[in-house]
Amino acid sequence: MEKSITYFEYAGAPNTEETLKLAVNRAEELNIKNIVISSTTGDSALKLLEIIKEKKLNISVSTVSYHQGFHEVDKMSIDEETIKKLNEQGAKVFMGGHALSGVERAISTKFGGANPVEIIAQTLRNFGHGLKVAYEVSLMAADAGLIPTKEEVIAIGGRSKGVDTAIVLKPSIMKNFFDSEVREIICMPRNKKKIEEL
Ligand SMILES: Cc1cc2nc3c(=O)[nH]c(=O)nc-3n(C[C@H](O)[C@H](O)[C@H](O)COP(=O)(O)O)c2cc1C
Repeated sequence: MEKSITYFEYAGAPNTEETLKLAVNRAEELNIKNIVISSTTGDSALKLLEIIKEKKLNISVSTVSYHQGFHEVDKMSIDEETIKKLNEQGAKVFMGGHALSGVERAISTKFGGANPVEIIAQTLRNFGHGLKVAYEVSLMAADAGLIPTKEEVIAIGGRSKGVDTAIVLKPSIMKNFFDSEVREIICMPRNKKKIEEL
């Protein structure tokens, strides 16, 4: 089997449109019915919905944003208006504890040292932040009942803003983390940093 992978030169938001198009094309090719996307503000998710609508495809979109307080105490990163817009277009929205940091983040912040889940996250970042995030949001969406775990889905992540990585994934819920499988990489950045981080 031969498949193409698109490599972006650098990580980050300039790759958003291309990532979304490639993800939707691969979903169409493989008849994948679920896409899960990390979208802090909802911007990338709205762009994804636009492409799906233009192509008149029947694909369910699950959006995962940061949990409350990530940026500011007691504040959500996504506003109510955007959640409403996403819901009106049929997308589901989820916010919750991060699968690949959670309480461990509090432990390492307070006491230092390394904990297993954060080590998994850091290792996945060797493939790029986007791949780690794609994985993480699939676990969160699966636990929330937004995506199935018996069929392949497409998961999309990025580096801080926008998206730059899309994978075909056989997802799992968190407690079965080691059952999940990355089946295909659709696109990812070669350089794991944004050009401005070099
Ligand atoms: C649960 C979660 C975890 C994330 N973790 C990281 C991360 O470890 N590194 C990173 O560069 N971006 C991380 N992000 C940001 C996303 O990869 C992506 O760039 C962002 O959600 C896009 O949001 P936008 O549509 O508002 O631009 C995370 C986002 C979410 C929702």
